Amino acid sequence: MRPGLAAAYEAHGLDMNRASVARMYDYMLGGKDNYAVDREAVAQVMVADPDVLSLVRENRAFVVRATRLMAEAGIDQFLDVGSGMPTAENVHQVAQGVNPDARTVYIDNDPIVLVHGQAILADNPLTTVVTADLRDPAAIIDNPHVGSFIDWSRPVGILSVATLHFVPDEDDPWATMAALREVSVPGSYLAISHATSDTVGETVGKVAEAYQRTAGKGTPRTREQVLRFFEGYELLDPGLTLVSQWRPPLPIPQPERYWFYAGVGRR
Ligand SMILES: C[S@@+](CC[C@H](N)C(=O)[O-])C[C@H]1O[C@@H](n2cnc3c(N)ncnc32)[C@H](O)[C@@H]1O
Repeated sequence: MRPGLAAAYEAHGLDMNRASVARMYDYMLGGKDNYAVDREAVAQVMVADPDVLSLVRENRAFVVRATRLMAEAGIDQFLDVGSGMPTAENVHQVAQGVNPDARTVYIDNDPIVLVHGQAILADNPLTTVVTADLRDPAAIIDNPHVGSFIDWSRPVGILSVATLHFVPDEDDPWATMAALREVSVPGSYLAISHATSDTVGETVGKVAEAYQRTAGKGTPRTREQVLRFFEGYELLDPGLTLVSQWRPPLPIPQPERYWFYAGVGRR
């Protein structure tokens, strides 16, 4: 375990002995920053959906395509809310591949992301990690460290990918996205992917049960509910689609097996 991690978990009221969404996702992507409790939880998710590892790869490919689109459109500052652990082809790497001066702020409520991110990003002065909860948008928008990286008077690229379904309706994730929209100037972008039960609902129900038993509640949402996150943005082609159908390099058979919606909007 990394030094200081147990104290960071305690400070954020999190239980180190329970599986974590961030560490499970790291394991599903082939990373090493996870524990036995996370791997056991992923095993339960894989029983519920044997295709889930392909889903997370499709989702990650969406992160790359969406970031590249924004960077190529001229966006040079990115806010990745619910970023997860640093992995291959992170937002800052994709963005800096287009514009070496692009800045990225990673936000996650799991302190392990900060601990690993600090180590990995130490030599990249244009990139930083902040521990904050998206249920408290002011903690992001008014955070002085975020403010030293993001100039809110200029367009920003916001990503909240495979994250909003971990915020239940009662915590109003739409209010958070509305607050981030209000602080973003015209020309800003928003990329979202989000779990849905609209296609293979029975499978998704079993996955949700596996998460509930292990890491915590997940809330798949309907197309209409996901579209509401894009209020105030104009969706770019091809609109809100299943994740493997969003500008794929090659057509993927049976796209309904990858049960995330994905889209990119422009303010
Ligand atoms: C499945 S991972 C997605 C990582 C990355 N965005 C991607 O799609 O490749 C979801 C991340 O959201 C984070 N998360 C969940 N609830 C959150 C919240 N309320 N505030 C901030 N981050 C949150 C988790 O800790 C986890 O790292």
